[in-house]
Amino acid sequence: MYWIYILLVLNIELITSSVVITRHEEECVLDSKLVEEIKSYENVTKHIINEIINGGFGAAMYDEYTKFIDKFGARISGSEALERAIDHMVNLTVRNGLNDVTTEDVKVPHWVRVKESAEMVQPYYKNIALLGLGTSVSTPLEGITAEAIVISSFEELDKTDASKIKGKIVVFDAHYVTYGDTVVYRGHGATKASQKGAIASLIRSITPFSIYSPHTGDQTYGENITKIPTACITLEDADLLRRLQDQGEKLILTLKMTYTYDEKTSRNTIVDLKGKDNPEKMVIVSGHIDSWDVGEGAMDDGGGMIISWFAPVILNMLKLKPKRTIRAILWTSEEFGYIGAAAYLQKHLNQLPNINFIMESDEGTFKPLGLEVAGSPKALCIIKEVLKQFAPIDKLTKSDYPGSDIVLFIEKGVPGASLLNKNERYFWYHHSEADTMNVQNKDDVIECAAFWAAVSYVIADLTEDMPRA
Ligand SMILES: *[C@@H]1O[C@H](CO)[C@@H](O)[C@H](O)[C@H]1NC(C)=O
Ligand SMILES: *[C@@H]1O[C@H](CO)[C@@H](O)[C@H](O)[C@H]1NC(C)=O
Ligand SMILES: *[C@@H]1O[C@H](CO)[C@@H](O)[C@H](O)[C@H]1NC(C)=O
Repeated sequence: MYWIYILLVLNIELITSSVVITRHEEECVLDSKLVEEIKSYENVTKHIINEIINGGFGAAMYDEYTKFIDKFGARISGSEALERAIDHMVNLTVRNGLNDVTTEDVKVPHWVRVKESAEMVQPYYKNIALLGLGTSVSTPLEGITAEAIVISSFEELDKTDASKIKGKIVVFDAHYVTYGDTVVYRGHGATKASQKGAIASLIRSITPFSIYSPHTGDQTYGENITKIPTACITLEDADLLRRLQDQGEKLILTLKMTYTYDEKTSRNTIVDLKGKDNPEKMVIVSGHIDSWDVGEGAMDDGGGMIISWFAPVILNMLKLKPKRTIRAILWTSEEFGYIGAAAYLQKHLNQLPNINFIMESDEGTFKPLGLEVAGSPKALCIIKEVLKQFAPIDKLTKSDYPGSDIVLFIEKGVPGASLLNKNERYFWYHHSEADTMNVQNKDDVIECAAFWAAVSYVIADLTEDMPRA
């Protein structure tokens, strides 16, 4: 999951103030015919869920998912591993009986971590674990050795005299509040430090928990600034540097960081289960197939990718064709700023009115809880009614910007939702070497897949289009 910084202000809202719609807050008065229609799906949703959970289909999906992660590992934007992973998913779709699969080319960034290291050389020698941030420039080959200054916040940086920053390595030690609140340091720390004359910047990893794990992620250089190398360090080392500075020690660090950056062609993958009545209208289910270059992208977003791919595939196997098309999209290059989603939106702008509902799973596939929904009050009421038959997976939170890639569509007025799940520990693993299959729980992922397929089926089959604002 990546968060576009322009949207950040809004995303902070969604993280901190998502509200559970309760009867007191919003009265849903739906036409009784529609309520009856929604109820009539109870049999089919039970059937879908039962086939996936107890009929072996979910276990088979999990097996393919595990093989996929083991075979391709990390799949960073522009890499050959990512392209081979895309080929594999195309083949897997056909092998599972769905021939309606296409890819669309997208120009994507290709940033490669070649070699990197950090050392504290004063007050004593210590290795510092680090992970360069996406798009970071390199240090000179011999590295940078300079004094470091630990800064807690942008406010503190603003108040600090430029003479105290110039020529130094700025270490941002902002403690995790929410991801949305804290990720601004990863996104803009290098730019802010450079504006005051710093020669490199290190960021306290954006996570509430650490067993000495650095967490990478994307960052953006502002216009007209000197691009300085930037990386994240562990919570443990950020705390240590802070304490040493507070004790009056002079901190000297050596950074050696080498990266390459160019552009490659990647692809969005589109899998359609064509609708039987209105094939031009669609419900999109999605996740991103690219990952960071560390760990294996099993959680972010292998899980979301596989359950989304599975929805049209399993419904086709169960011979359940909804009225509208169910389109699974495996976005490419999400991690570098929704590159695949933006390209799809541009290319299919004229089809925007035909997207009935857009869904994304990119915040984990832990135990499913419900949906985080954006849309008109009536759309929310319909989704709430639909969710009743999935109890206890029936929680609905309202948000202006659910998901990551799909926010580009939601901003254009398309109603949509992202998967709510028990993901309290998501940021423990996020963008780190620890994002592996060991994070995933088989039963939970299968339950997510069952819910995702069944809920998208009902929405794609309802007589009424999802009403827009
Ligand atoms: C559900 O299926 C059962 C058994 O096939 C049937 O008797 C019942 O009428 C169905 N209910 C609905 C709401 O379709
Ligand atoms: C996909 O299938 C094609 C045709 O059957 C084959 O040539 C290709 O090697 C396969 N690719 C992968 C990644 O399995
Ligand atoms: C960057 O420099 C260009 C050319 O001088 C100028 O037009 C532009 O406004 C500058 N951008 C920012 C963000 O300062």
